[in-house]
Amino acid sequence: MKRSPKYLIYTFGCQMNERDSETLAGFCEKMGYEKAEGLHEADLIILNTCCVRANAENRIYGHLGNLKPLKEERPEVIIAVGGCMAQEPAERERIKAVHPHVDLIFGPQNLHRFPVLLERVLRGEGRVVEIDPGPGEIHEDLPVKRASNLKAWVTVMQGCNNFCAYCIVPYVRGRERSRRPEKILAEVEEVVAQGIKEVTLLGQNVNSYGRDLGPEGIDFAELLRRVDAVPGLLRLRFTTSHPKDLSDRLIAAMAECPTVCEHIHLPLQAGSDRVLARMNRQYTRARYLELVTRLREAVPGIAITTDIIVGFPGETEEDFQETLSMVREVGFDGAFTFAYSPRLGTKAANMDGQLPEEVKLERLYRLIEVVNEVSRAKNEELRDRVVEVLVEGPSERNPAVWCGRTRTNKLVLFPGPAKVGALLPVRITDPQTWTLHGVPAVS
Ligand code: SAH
Ligand code: SF4
Ligand code: F3S
Repeated sequence: MKRSPKYLIYTFGCQMNERDSETLAGFCEKMGYEKAEGLHEADLIILNTCCVRANAENRIYGHLGNLKPLKEERPEVIIAVGGCMAQEPAERERIKAVHPHVDLIFGPQNLHRFPVLLERVLRGEGRVVEIDPGPGEIHEDLPVKRASNLKAWVTVMQGCNNFCAYCIVPYVRGRERSRRPEKILAEVEEVVAQGIKEVTLLGQNVNSYGRDLGPEGIDFAELLRRVDAVPGLLRLRFTTSHPKDLSDRLIAAMAECPTVCEHIHLPLQAGSDRVLARMNRQYTRARYLELVTRLREAVPGIAITTDIIVGFPGETEEDFQETLSMVREVGFDGAFTFAYSPRLGTKAANMDGQLPEEVKLERLYRLIEVVNEVSRAKNEELRDRVVEVLVEGPSERNPAVWCGRTRTNKLVLFPGPAKVGALLPVRITDPQTWTLHGVPAVS
């Protein structure tokens, strides 16, 4: 019997890319490919890339370089590069010039064209490049092979209109486009019927969902209420929220919808008003704190996580101290922390006051210390408390130790076995900085 060709996808970047890779996997399987167990058996290798920071790009170039010997040994292997880095003109030229072993380059707005483009490569056209510079539109009903049968990503909108001064995303992902609510609901109903327990609604700024839909459109608060009402769904999450667009209507919907989890990822970026203004974030420290108060009043026990950038152009030690004090004042449950990385074409890349790498890194380390201390203290509050865990299965490192997440999105480790997909009460015995250790609670 003829062996089916095999595909392998490497995904970099955010959840939008994770979801796009599920569509790429769907396309591959529809075209008769099977998932490869490793590089050695792959006939088609896809890198779904990110260009949000230089270190993301460097990792991708590292990967690409490593594939060169493989391509020399097996020239029939197809190497494709998709995603945000492919959309970026300078990076695209670099890939073309330095990595001749790449057969196919396509942008995030060309995802729906993947089978056609791959066919062209298979027909021997040589290198195929397709980048759609247009406004982009939403392509519905693409195939999908989901990475999990417990949790699903559902995209509600693509693109971003915010143009935060440091950020490349609006340039590579285009303007905001919202999916029709009935399409989103149909996808949620479908995954729930397949046994999915948890859905995360995805967009670069979900809080501005629906603004482009016209008079029949609904806002994100209403969308959340409609998705919450889908029978059989256990947990509903969403990401990312922009503080400037976080409405009272959304906070009310979070408080009132039983499936909506007690967690919000609310990127702060900086604690100083001066830096926030230079970043074009359109909120102040005081406004952010007010939102935190309202969220905590409306949704008791809510976990708040965030993204923070240090070393933005012109950031002084005093500005940075305001970021540190903000982390303590809010008491974040967790934070992704980044050293500012200049991105070609963004406003911040041309600003005065670019800081040396060592200043950025030194601030980053000091920030991480405070973030860890604060999230450790937050987790400590859960000692001896019983939390509801959605059981995911045995952990990768030790099959006797099982894992799952709380509604607040914290990772819990406990002695297994348990029923995958069940909601299990677990008593927290040993809270740590990134994980909570516990034992199933007898009810
Ligand atoms: N749309 C989301 C996330 C976009 S990218 C949002 O608005 O929150 C994820 C995070 O990467 C951002 O929140 C920001 O903290 C960080 N980031 C984006 N551009 C960056 C840059 N040029 N340098 C360092 N960090 C950056
Ligand atoms: Fe980037 Fe700002 Fe848009 Fe987020 S909201 S994707 S940080 S421009
Ligand atoms: Fe990266 Fe593109 Fe997401 S740049 S963060 S993969 S939208």
